[in-house]
Amino acid sequence: MTAESLKTRIGELAPPMRLMMTPGPSSIDPRVYRALSAPVVGHIDPWFKTCMDETQILLRQVFQTENRITMPLSASGSGGIEASVLNTLEEGDEAIICVNGYFSERMYEIATRTPAKIVKVEAPYGKAVDAEDVRKAGAGRKIKVVGLAHGETSSGVVTALDPFRKVADEFGALLIVDTVASLAAEPLDVDKQRLDIVFSGSQKALSAPPGMSPITIGAHAEEVLKSRKKKVQSWYFDLTTAMNYWGKDRLYHHTPPISLIYALREAMRLTMEEGLEVRWERHRVNQLALIAGIEAMGLELLVKKPKERLVTVTPVMIPAGVDDVKYRNQLLDEFNIEIAGGIGPLKGKIWRLGLMGYCAQKANVLLLLAAMEKVMVDQGGRVEAGAGVAAAIRSYAGIEAEVVTSRA
Ligand SMILES: Cc1ncc(COP(=O)(O)O)c(C=O)c1O
Repeated sequence: MTAESLKTRIGELAPPMRLMMTPGPSSIDPRVYRALSAPVVGHIDPWFKTCMDETQILLRQVFQTENRITMPLSASGSGGIEASVLNTLEEGDEAIICVNGYFSERMYEIATRTPAKIVKVEAPYGKAVDAEDVRKAGAGRKIKVVGLAHGETSSGVVTALDPFRKVADEFGALLIVDTVASLAAEPLDVDKQRLDIVFSGSQKALSAPPGMSPITIGAHAEEVLKSRKKKVQSWYFDLTTAMNYWGKDRLYHHTPPISLIYALREAMRLTMEEGLEVRWERHRVNQLALIAGIEAMGLELLVKKPKERLVTVTPVMIPAGVDDVKYRNQLLDEFNIEIAGGIGPLKGKIWRLGLMGYCAQKANVLLLLAAMEKVMVDQGGRVEAGAGVAAAIRSYAGIEAEVVTSRA
Protein backbone atom coordinates (compact mmCIF):
# COMPACT_ATOMS: atom_id res chain seq x y z
CA MET A 1 0.00 0.00 0.00
CA THR A 2 1.36 3.43 -0.85
CA ALA A 3 1.43 6.30 1.64
CA GLU A 4 -1.04 8.07 -0.67
CA SER A 5 -3.58 5.22 -0.69
CA LEU A 6 -3.37 4.91 3.12
CA LYS A 7 -4.47 8.53 3.37
CA THR A 8 -7.48 7.98 1.04
CA ARG A 9 -10.71 8.72 2.86
CA ILE A 10 -13.62 6.50 1.90
CA GLY A 11 -16.83 8.53 1.95
CA GLU A 12 -20.18 7.52 3.36
CA LEU A 13 -21.97 4.87 1.28
CA ALA A 14 -24.35 6.67 -1.10
CA PRO A 15 -25.65 4.46 -3.89
CA PRO A 16 -27.74 6.16 -6.58
CA MET A 17 -31.52 5.57 -6.46
CA ARG A 18 -32.03 3.75 -9.77
CA LEU A 19 -35.26 2.71 -11.38
CA MET A 20 -34.42 -0.95 -11.92
CA MET A 21 -36.43 -2.05 -14.92
CA THR A 22 -34.25 -5.14 -15.23
CA PRO A 23 -34.84 -8.88 -14.87
CA GLY A 24 -33.78 -8.49 -11.24
CA PRO A 25 -32.93 -7.20 -8.81
CA SER A 26 -36.00 -4.98 -9.04
CA SER A 27 -36.71 -1.68 -7.32
CA ILE A 28 -37.70 -2.02 -3.67
CA ASP A 29 -40.69 -0.57 -1.81
CA PRO A 30 -39.62 2.01 0.85
CA ARG A 31 -41.42 -0.12 3.46
CA VAL A 32 -39.06 -3.01 2.66
CA TYR A 33 -36.06 -0.69 3.06
CA ARG A 34 -37.40 0.26 6.49
CA ALA A 35 -37.62 -3.42 7.47
CA LEU A 36 -34.06 -3.93 6.26
CA SER A 37 -32.74 -1.31 8.66
CA ALA A 38 -34.61 -2.65 11.74
CA PRO A 39 -32.40 -3.70 14.70
CA VAL A 40 -30.68 -7.05 14.31
CA VAL A 41 -31.51 -9.62 16.99
CA GLY A 42 -29.98 -13.05 17.57
CA HIS A 43 -31.12 -15.97 15.44
CA ILE A 44 -32.43 -17.86 18.47
CA ASP A 45 -34.00 -14.84 20.16
CA PRO A 46 -37.59 -15.75 21.11
CA TRP A 47 -38.81 -12.65 19.24
CA PHE A 48 -36.99 -13.79 16.12
CA LYS A 49 -38.58 -17.22 16.35
CA THR A 50 -41.97 -15.54 16.02
CA CYS A 51 -40.63 -13.56 13.08
CA MET A 52 -39.57 -16.89 11.51
CA ASP A 53 -43.07 -18.33 12.07
CA GLU A 54 -44.58 -15.31 10.34
CA THR A 55 -42.09 -15.57 7.48
CA GLN A 56 -43.08 -19.20 6.94
CA ILE A 57 -46.81 -18.41 7.11
CA LEU A 58 -46.30 -15.76 4.43
CA LEU A 59 -44.13 -18.07 2.32
CA ARG A 60 -46.88 -20.71 2.35
CA GLN A 61 -49.40 -18.07 1.29
CA VAL A 62 -47.23 -16.79 -1.55
CA PHE A 63 -46.53 -20.32 -2.83
CA GLN A 64 -50.14 -21.37 -2.06
CA THR A 65 -49.11 -24.48 -0.19
CA GLU A 66 -49.42 -26.23 3.12
CA ASN A 67 -46.06 -27.97 2.71
CA ARG A 68 -44.28 -28.52 6.02
CA ILE A 69 -40.86 -27.85 4.51
CA THR A 70 -41.22 -24.27 3.36
CA MET A 71 -38.39 -21.88 4.19
CA PRO A 72 -36.11 -19.24 2.77
CA LEU A 73 -32.66 -20.64 2.00
CA SER A 74 -29.80 -18.32 2.89
CA ALA A 75 -28.71 -18.12 -0.72
CA SER A 76 -29.57 -16.42 -3.99
CA GLY A 77 -31.82 -18.18 -6.51
CA SER A 78 -28.99 -20.42 -7.69
CA GLY A 79 -28.93 -21.90 -4.18
CA GLY A 80 -32.53 -22.99 -4.76
CA ILE A 81 -31.48 -24.86 -7.90
CA GLU A 82 -28.54 -26.43 -6.11
CA ALA A 83 -30.66 -27.55 -3.13
CA SER A 84 -33.47 -29.00 -5.27
CA VAL A 85 -31.20 -30.97 -7.52
CA LEU A 86 -28.60 -32.16 -4.99
CA ASN A 87 -31.21 -33.36 -2.50
CA THR A 88 -33.18 -35.43 -4.99
CA LEU A 89 -30.55 -37.01 -7.24
CA GLU A 90 -28.04 -39.71 -6.37
CA GLU A 91 -26.11 -42.55 -7.98
CA GLY A 92 -28.28 -44.72 -10.23
CA ASP A 93 -31.01 -42.05 -10.75
CA GLU A 94 -32.08 -40.56 -14.05
CA ALA A 95 -33.48 -37.07 -14.56
CA ILE A 96 -34.72 -34.91 -17.40
CA ILE A 97 -33.88 -31.20 -17.32
CA CYS A 98 -35.71 -28.93 -19.76
CA VAL A 99 -33.48 -26.23 -21.18
CA ASN A 100 -34.70 -23.14 -23.05
CA GLY A 101 -32.29 -20.52 -21.79
CA TYR A 102 -29.38 -19.55 -19.60
CA PHE A 103 -30.96 -20.36 -16.22
CA SER A 104 -32.50 -23.69 -17.14
CA GLU A 105 -29.08 -24.51 -18.60
CA ARG A 106 -27.72 -23.75 -15.11
CA MET A 107 -30.10 -26.32 -13.62
CA TYR A 108 -28.79 -28.82 -16.19
CA GLU A 109 -25.18 -27.91 -15.37
CA ILE A 110 -25.78 -28.37 -11.63
CA ALA A 111 -27.59 -31.66 -12.22
CA THR A 112 -24.68 -33.02 -14.27
CA ARG A 113 -22.45 -32.54 -11.21
CA THR A 114 -24.46 -35.17 -9.33
CA PRO A 115 -23.75 -38.87 -9.97
CA ALA A 116 -27.17 -39.24 -11.66
CA LYS A 117 -27.68 -39.65 -15.40
CA ILE A 118 -29.10 -36.45 -16.85
CA VAL A 119 -31.02 -36.10 -20.11
CA LYS A 120 -31.38 -32.61 -21.60
CA VAL A 121 -34.56 -31.72 -23.53
CA GLU A 122 -34.19 -28.42 -25.33
CA ALA A 123 -36.11 -25.62 -27.02
CA PRO A 124 -34.55 -22.59 -28.70
CA TYR A 125 -34.17 -19.39 -26.65
CA GLY A 126 -37.50 -17.54 -26.97
CA LYS A 127 -39.68 -20.67 -26.94
CA ALA A 128 -41.03 -23.04 -24.28
CA VAL A 129 -39.95 -26.68 -24.16
CA ASP A 130 -42.65 -29.02 -25.45
CA ALA A 131 -43.85 -31.49 -22.79
CA GLU A 132 -44.31 -34.02 -25.59
CA ASP A 133 -40.52 -33.96 -26.18
CA VAL A 134 -40.05 -34.77 -22.50
CA ARG A 135 -42.48 -37.69 -22.79
CA LYS A 136 -40.50 -39.04 -25.77
CA ALA A 137 -37.13 -38.55 -24.06
CA GLY A 138 -38.29 -40.43 -20.96
CA ALA A 139 -40.00 -43.31 -22.74
CA GLY A 140 -38.65 -46.64 -21.49
CA ARG A 141 -36.51 -44.98 -18.76
CA LYS A 142 -36.96 -44.78 -15.03
CA ILE A 143 -37.05 -41.00 -14.65
CA LYS A 144 -36.92 -39.79 -11.06
CA VAL A 145 -36.98 -36.03 -11.63
CA VAL A 146 -38.19 -33.62 -14.28
CA GLY A 147 -36.83 -30.09 -13.82
CA LEU A 148 -37.72 -26.87 -15.60
CA ALA A 149 -37.89 -23.08 -15.27
CA HIS A 150 -41.42 -21.69 -15.03
CA GLY A 151 -40.10 -18.31 -16.11
CA GLU A 152 -36.87 -18.34 -18.14
CA THR A 153 -35.43 -14.90 -17.47
CA SER A 154 -32.77 -14.94 -20.20
CA SER A 155 -35.35 -15.22 -22.96
CA GLY A 156 -38.55 -13.95 -21.30
CA VAL A 157 -40.47 -17.20 -21.72
CA VAL A 158 -43.12 -18.62 -19.40
CA THR A 159 -43.88 -22.34 -19.57
CA ALA A 160 -47.32 -23.76 -18.76
CA LEU A 161 -46.68 -26.27 -15.98
CA ASP A 162 -49.70 -28.61 -16.17
CA PRO A 163 -48.50 -30.62 -19.20
CA PHE A 164 -45.19 -31.26 -17.40
CA ARG A 165 -47.02 -32.41 -14.27
CA LYS A 166 -48.92 -34.89 -16.44
CA VAL A 167 -45.76 -36.27 -18.05
CA ALA A 168 -43.94 -36.44 -14.70
CA ASP A 169 -46.92 -38.39 -13.31
CA GLU A 170 -46.62 -40.88 -16.17
CA PHE A 171 -42.97 -41.41 -15.22
CA GLY A 172 -43.73 -41.43 -11.48
CA ALA A 173 -41.22 -38.55 -11.29
CA LEU A 174 -40.86 -35.50 -9.08
CA LEU A 175 -41.39 -32.13 -10.73
CA ILE A 176 -38.86 -29.44 -9.78
CA VAL A 177 -39.85 -25.91 -10.78
CA ASP A 178 -37.69 -22.79 -10.83
CA THR A 179 -39.98 -19.82 -10.11
CA VAL A 180 -37.18 -17.32 -9.49
CA ALA A 181 -38.57 -14.96 -12.14
CA SER A 182 -42.26 -15.80 -11.87
CA LEU A 183 -43.32 -16.13 -8.21
CA ALA A 184 -45.78 -13.37 -7.23
CA ALA A 185 -46.13 -12.26 -10.87
CA GLU A 186 -47.42 -15.26 -12.85
CA PRO A 187 -50.32 -17.42 -11.63
CA LEU A 188 -48.94 -20.29 -9.53
CA ASP A 189 -50.60 -22.61 -7.01
CA VAL A 190 -48.12 -25.15 -5.68
CA ASP A 191 -50.69 -27.44 -4.03
CA LYS A 192 -53.35 -27.33 -6.74
CA GLN A 193 -50.77 -27.86 -9.48
CA ARG A 194 -49.11 -30.59 -7.36
CA LEU A 195 -45.59 -29.23 -7.84
CA ASP A 196 -43.12 -31.28 -5.80
CA ILE A 197 -40.24 -28.85 -5.28
CA VAL A 198 -40.53 -25.16 -6.05
CA PHE A 199 -37.95 -22.49 -5.35
CA SER A 200 -37.64 -18.80 -6.07
CA GLY A 201 -35.50 -15.72 -5.45
CA SER A 202 -36.17 -12.76 -3.21
CA GLN A 203 -35.04 -10.07 -5.65
CA LYS A 204 -37.50 -10.39 -8.51
CA ALA A 205 -41.30 -10.03 -8.33
CA LEU A 206 -41.27 -10.20 -4.53
CA SER A 207 -39.15 -7.02 -4.64
CA ALA A 208 -36.99 -7.82 -1.65
CA PRO A 209 -33.18 -7.49 -1.75
CA PRO A 210 -31.21 -10.34 -3.39
CA GLY A 211 -29.83 -13.09 -1.19
CA MET A 212 -32.69 -15.39 -0.18
CA SER A 213 -34.17 -18.34 -2.02
CA PRO A 214 -37.62 -19.35 -0.79
CA ILE A 215 -38.22 -23.07 -1.29
CA THR A 216 -41.08 -25.49 -0.66
CA ILE A 217 -41.00 -29.28 -0.67
CA GLY A 218 -44.13 -31.41 -1.07
CA ALA A 219 -44.90 -34.53 0.98
CA HIS A 220 -43.92 -36.92 -1.83
CA ALA A 221 -40.59 -35.16 -2.33
CA GLU A 222 -40.00 -35.23 1.44
CA GLU A 223 -40.41 -39.02 1.37
CA VAL A 224 -37.87 -39.23 -1.45
CA LEU A 225 -35.40 -37.16 0.58
CA LYS A 226 -35.90 -39.38 3.62
CA SER A 227 -35.25 -42.54 1.62
CA ARG A 228 -31.90 -41.42 0.20
CA LYS A 229 -29.22 -44.10 0.27
CA LYS A 230 -26.39 -41.62 0.89
CA LYS A 231 -26.07 -38.25 2.59
CA VAL A 232 -26.52 -35.18 0.38
CA GLN A 233 -23.08 -34.06 -0.93
CA SER A 234 -23.73 -30.50 0.26
CA TRP A 235 -23.90 -29.92 3.99
CA TYR A 236 -25.16 -26.35 3.65
CA PHE A 237 -27.99 -27.24 1.28
CA ASP A 238 -29.08 -30.50 2.94
CA LEU A 239 -32.77 -29.66 3.24
CA THR A 240 -33.53 -32.14 5.99
CA THR A 241 -30.91 -30.73 8.35
CA ALA A 242 -31.71 -27.13 7.38
CA MET A 243 -35.22 -27.92 8.58
CA ASN A 244 -33.88 -28.46 12.09
CA TYR A 245 -33.68 -24.69 12.22
CA TRP A 246 -36.76 -23.82 10.17
CA GLY A 247 -38.74 -26.75 11.67
CA LYS A 248 -40.39 -26.90 15.09
CA ASP A 249 -37.14 -27.41 17.05
CA ARG A 250 -35.49 -24.22 15.76
CA LEU A 251 -32.06 -25.77 16.30
CA TYR A 252 -29.01 -23.87 15.11
CA HIS A 253 -27.93 -24.84 11.60
CA HIS A 254 -26.15 -21.73 10.33
CA THR A 255 -26.44 -18.05 11.21
CA PRO A 256 -29.13 -16.75 8.85
CA PRO A 257 -29.13 -13.25 7.30
CA ILE A 258 -31.50 -11.74 9.87
CA SER A 259 -31.97 -8.41 8.03
CA LEU A 260 -32.73 -10.15 4.74
CA ILE A 261 -35.37 -12.24 6.50
CA TYR A 262 -36.96 -9.04 7.86
CA ALA A 263 -37.01 -7.59 4.35
CA LEU A 264 -38.42 -10.75 2.77
CA ARG A 265 -41.10 -10.93 5.47
CA GLU A 266 -42.14 -7.33 4.76
CA ALA A 267 -42.04 -7.82 0.98
CA MET A 268 -44.29 -10.89 1.29
CA ARG A 269 -46.59 -9.09 3.71
CA LEU A 270 -47.02 -6.37 1.08
CA THR A 271 -47.58 -9.02 -1.60
CA MET A 272 -50.37 -10.63 0.39
CA GLU A 273 -51.83 -7.25 1.36
CA GLU A 274 -52.18 -6.53 -2.35
CA GLY A 275 -53.48 -10.04 -3.05
CA LEU A 276 -51.90 -12.58 -5.37
CA GLU A 277 -54.52 -12.32 -8.09
CA VAL A 278 -54.45 -8.53 -8.10
CA ARG A 279 -50.66 -8.65 -8.31
CA TRP A 280 -50.69 -11.13 -11.22
CA GLU A 281 -53.18 -8.89 -13.04
CA ARG A 282 -51.09 -5.78 -12.33
CA HIS A 283 -48.09 -7.44 -13.99
CA ARG A 284 -50.19 -8.55 -16.98
CA VAL A 285 -51.75 -5.13 -17.58
CA ASN A 286 -48.44 -3.30 -17.36
CA GLN A 287 -46.67 -5.74 -19.66
CA LEU A 288 -49.46 -5.44 -22.25
CA ALA A 289 -49.04 -1.66 -22.22
CA LEU A 290 -45.25 -1.96 -22.46
CA ILE A 291 -45.56 -4.36 -25.40
CA ALA A 292 -48.05 -2.05 -27.16
CA GLY A 293 -45.58 0.81 -26.75
CA ILE A 294 -42.57 -1.20 -27.89
CA GLU A 295 -44.35 -2.43 -31.01
CA ALA A 296 -45.63 1.07 -31.81
CA MET A 297 -42.01 2.25 -31.68
CA GLY A 298 -41.26 -0.24 -34.45
CA LEU A 299 -39.27 -2.57 -32.20
CA GLU A 300 -39.55 -6.35 -32.43
CA LEU A 301 -40.14 -8.78 -29.57
CA LEU A 302 -38.10 -11.95 -29.15
CA VAL A 303 -41.00 -14.11 -27.91
CA LYS A 304 -43.48 -14.47 -30.71
CA LYS A 305 -46.28 -16.41 -29.00
CA PRO A 306 -48.22 -14.09 -26.65
CA LYS A 307 -49.02 -17.05 -24.37
CA GLU A 308 -45.30 -17.72 -23.86
CA ARG A 309 -44.44 -14.14 -22.81
CA LEU A 310 -43.22 -14.03 -19.22
CA VAL A 311 -44.90 -11.00 -17.61
CA THR A 312 -41.80 -9.94 -15.71
CA VAL A 313 -39.28 -9.81 -18.57
CA THR A 314 -39.91 -8.45 -22.05
CA PRO A 315 -37.01 -9.11 -24.43
CA VAL A 316 -36.76 -6.67 -27.33
CA MET A 317 -34.55 -7.13 -30.41
CA ILE A 318 -31.91 -4.39 -30.59
CA PRO A 319 -32.52 -2.50 -33.85
CA ALA A 320 -29.76 -2.48 -36.47
CA GLY A 321 -27.37 0.44 -36.11
CA VAL A 322 -28.02 1.00 -32.38
CA ASP A 323 -25.17 0.22 -30.00
CA ASP A 324 -26.35 -2.02 -27.13
CA VAL A 325 -24.05 -0.75 -24.39
CA LYS A 326 -24.08 2.91 -25.44
CA TYR A 327 -27.88 2.87 -25.47
CA ARG A 328 -28.18 1.31 -22.01
CA ASN A 329 -25.55 3.66 -20.62
CA GLN A 330 -27.44 6.75 -21.81
CA LEU A 331 -30.66 5.44 -20.24
CA LEU A 332 -28.78 5.04 -16.99
CA ASP A 333 -26.90 8.35 -17.09
CA GLU A 334 -29.72 10.54 -18.32
CA PHE A 335 -32.78 8.90 -16.77
CA ASN A 336 -31.38 6.77 -13.94
CA ILE A 337 -33.13 3.79 -15.54
CA GLU A 338 -31.40 0.44 -15.69
CA ILE A 339 -32.46 -2.11 -18.31
CA ALA A 340 -30.54 -5.32 -19.05
CA GLY A 341 -28.78 -6.64 -22.10
CA GLY A 342 -28.94 -10.21 -23.33
CA ILE A 343 -26.93 -13.07 -21.84
CA GLY A 344 -25.56 -16.27 -23.34
CA PRO A 345 -26.28 -16.52 -27.08
CA LEU A 346 -28.56 -13.45 -26.87
CA LYS A 347 -25.75 -11.13 -25.72
CA GLY A 348 -25.74 -8.00 -27.89
CA LYS A 349 -28.96 -9.08 -29.63
CA ILE A 350 -31.69 -8.13 -27.15
CA TRP A 351 -32.57 -5.76 -24.35
CA ARG A 352 -34.50 -7.21 -21.46
CA LEU A 353 -37.06 -4.86 -19.98
CA GLY A 354 -38.09 -5.85 -16.49
CA LEU A 355 -41.45 -5.22 -14.85
CA MET A 356 -41.15 -6.94 -11.52
CA GLY A 357 -43.07 -6.41 -8.30
CA TYR A 358 -42.82 -2.82 -7.08
CA CYS A 359 -41.48 -1.74 -10.48
CA ALA A 360 -44.53 -2.92 -12.45
CA GLN A 361 -46.37 0.42 -12.41
CA LYS A 362 -48.02 2.57 -15.06
CA ALA A 363 -45.80 5.58 -14.32
CA ASN A 364 -42.67 3.47 -14.84
CA VAL A 365 -43.91 1.97 -18.11
CA LEU A 366 -44.71 5.41 -19.55
CA LEU A 367 -41.41 6.87 -18.35
CA LEU A 368 -39.43 3.97 -19.79
CA LEU A 369 -41.11 4.26 -23.19
CA ALA A 370 -40.54 8.02 -23.31
CA ALA A 371 -36.91 7.64 -22.25
CA MET A 372 -36.32 4.82 -24.75
CA GLU A 373 -37.65 7.01 -27.54
CA LYS A 374 -35.44 9.97 -26.57
CA VAL A 375 -32.32 7.81 -26.40
CA MET A 376 -33.20 6.06 -29.66
CA VAL A 377 -33.48 9.39 -31.49
CA ASP A 378 -30.23 10.64 -29.93
CA GLN A 379 -28.43 7.52 -31.08
CA GLY A 380 -29.59 7.66 -34.69
CA GLY A 381 -32.57 5.26 -34.49
CA ARG A 382 -35.89 6.09 -36.14
CA VAL A 383 -39.04 6.35 -34.02
CA GLU A 384 -42.33 8.10 -34.63
CA ALA A 385 -42.57 10.88 -32.01
CA GLY A 386 -44.72 9.87 -29.04
CA ALA A 387 -45.91 6.62 -30.67
CA GLY A 388 -44.78 4.33 -27.83
CA VAL A 389 -46.36 6.31 -25.00
CA ALA A 390 -49.57 6.87 -26.98
CA ALA A 391 -49.95 3.13 -27.68
CA ALA A 392 -49.34 2.27 -24.03
CA ILE A 393 -51.96 4.81 -22.93
CA ARG A 394 -54.45 3.25 -25.38
CA SER A 395 -53.62 -0.19 -24.00
CA TYR A 396 -54.32 0.91 -20.41
CA ALA A 397 -57.52 2.68 -21.52
CA GLY A 398 -58.71 -0.43 -23.39
CA ILE A 399 -58.16 -2.66 -20.37
CA GLU A 400 -59.85 -0.16 -18.04
CA ALA A 401 -62.84 0.03 -20.43
CA GLU A 402 -63.02 -3.80 -20.49
CA VAL A 403 -63.11 -3.88 -16.68
CA VAL A 404 -65.89 -1.25 -16.56
CA THR A 405 -67.93 -3.19 -19.16
CA SER A 406 -67.48 -6.51 -17.37
CA ARG A 407 -68.66 -4.91 -14.11
CA ALA A 408 -71.71 -3.24 -15.72
C1 LIG B 1 -35.02 -18.23 -13.67
C2 LIG B 1 -33.82 -17.99 -12.84
N1 LIG B 1 -33.29 -19.02 -12.16
C3 LIG B 1 -32.20 -18.87 -11.38
C4 LIG B 1 -31.57 -17.65 -11.28
C5 LIG B 1 -30.36 -17.51 -10.42
O1 LIG B 1 -30.64 -16.65 -9.37
P1 LIG B 1 -29.49 -15.84 -8.60
O2 LIG B 1 -28.84 -14.95 -9.60
O3 LIG B 1 -30.29 -15.09 -7.57
O4 LIG B 1 -28.57 -16.84 -8.03
C6 LIG B 1 -32.07 -16.55 -11.97
C7 LIG B 1 -31.42 -15.24 -11.88
O5 LIG B 1 -31.71 -14.31 -12.59
C8 LIG B 1 -33.23 -16.73 -12.76
O6 LIG B 1 -33.75 -15.71 -13.42
